[in-house]
Amino acid sequence: MFASRCPAASLLLCLFSSVNSSPVPFYTPAPHHPLQISPPAPSPTRLPSLPPPSLSPHPFREPGESADGGLCPLTLTPSALVVRFGDPVTVNCSASTPNVPGVGWVVSLGGEEKPEFSMTSFLVWGVKSLTDWSITPVCFTLVEQGGQCQRHLSLIIYKPPSSVSMAVLNHSGPLLEGGQYTLLCTVHDVAPVQNLAVTFYRGHTALGRVRSNATTKTPVTETFSLDIVPSKEDDGVQYWCEARLELGPAGPQRPPAVVSPKLTSTVHFGPQLTCPAKLWVKEGERLGCEVRGNPPPLVNWYRDGENVTLPTRSKRWHSGRYTVCAEGVLGHKEFTVEVEVLPTNGSAAGSSRGFLLGVLLIQFTHWL
Ligand SMILES: *[C@@H]1O[C@H](CO)[C@@H](O)[C@H](O)[C@H]1NC(C)=O
Ligand SMILES: *[C@@H]1O[C@H](CO)[C@@H](O)[C@H](O)[C@H]1NC(C)=O
Ligand SMILES: *[C@@H]1O[C@H](CO)[C@@H](O)[C@H](O)[C@H]1NC(C)=O
Ligand SMILES: *[C@@H]1O[C@H](CO)[C@@H](O)[C@H](O)[C@H]1NC(C)=O
Ligand SMILES: *[C@@H]1O[C@H](CO)[C@@H](O)[C@H](O)[C@H]1NC(C)=O
Repeated sequence: MFASRCPAASLLLCLFSSVNSSPVPFYTPAPHHPLQISPPAPSPTRLPSLPPPSLSPHPFREPGESADGGLCPLTLTPSALVVRFGDPVTVNCSASTPNVPGVGWVVSLGGEEKPEFSMTSFLVWGVKSLTDWSITPVCFTLVEQGGQCQRHLSLIIYKPPSSVSMAVLNHSGPLLEGGQYTLLCTVHDVAPVQNLAVTFYRGHTALGRVRSNATTKTPVTETFSLDIVPSKEDDGVQYWCEARLELGPAGPQRPPAVVSPKLTSTVHFGPQLTCPAKLWVKEGERLGCEVRGNPPPLVNWYRDGENVTLPTRSKRWHSGRYTVCAEGVLGHKEFTVEVEVLPTNGSAAGSSRGFLLGVLLIQFTHWL
């Protein structure tokens, strides 16, 4: 009879032996779920059209005349504006034909319309500090046919996020290898959320990009999510996210971006046993198998059912059948290995017989 298993209950009393807990250094990207990731989109080049302002009763409106396009001889400079909330703004509305009676602006501000009109070929509208999220400036003039035409100012008022934070949904502490987790990136107090792109990163690698569906023009706080399945190679990596306002060519040269603090992950795994069925070592060498895990698994060696300490310098009489038992965070694994200690002067007579014996006797047990 021989003991092939080590009772799990006795493991904790057993001797602690050789342990290798450091994960291998090579890098494989963890799979992630593409469902919530949109493909990288080009920067928006078109600005969203604003709803028509409420211009009634309008002093120059004629029935059927509301040309807001190519025939209206008005030019806005700049033609589209991207303004940070609170910044100054000025727009020059000028007539491109000489025979207009004048140029005017209607600006709805907090529900009130403030029309101005000037009997000149251009009129500049501006404020020192733009602090109205719903402002809709419209320039108008009269055309030859006796009608009125108007141009809406394409205007985006933005506010960079006040802060960006990163968390794991309903979880704190170490992640388990193979477990499914959801990263949450919360962007606080940003406008317009429609122009916001959030990118999740692991170290320097972009994992995915998400956008909001909302069209709110005033500042909002929104949380974006990305699913991850960590592998042991992800131990120690940093997860973070970046919130960037993509405001198009009329926007600031450097798009406003705010990054979250970095979340350093601890990934628990193991035990993993790497052991040949038959182990030949030369006299004087170490015996051992590779055991990996984080945190380091509790490892015990048994020989003929009795716990033993592995010799650092093996002797011929150390040859025999050993069972290694490893208790780690994801369970318990064991493996039986036939050890043959070869004499240093290299007599091969006994080893082939030993190998056959090893093949017959090795019992392999492996479970989680
Ligand atoms: C393992 O061996 C040590 C001595 O080497 C002994 O003190 C201990 O009780 C043993 N444990 C078990 C579970 O046999
Ligand atoms: C507005 O535009 C017109 C036409 O291009 C120009 O003559 C005028 O100087 C501009 N006014 C300002 C204040 O920029
Ligand atoms: C997260 O936890 C909250 C309450 O603690 C619960 O209502 C919610 O369903 C949980 N979400 C998930 C995805 O488990
Ligand atoms: C955006 O809308 C799509 C389709 O309606 C939906 O599948 C997706 O979950 C929405 N995204 C967010 C962040 O709400
Ligand atoms: C190997 O060394 C042992 C003593 O250590 C000796 O008895 C044996 O004859 C040697 N074998 C060979 C093949 O040299």
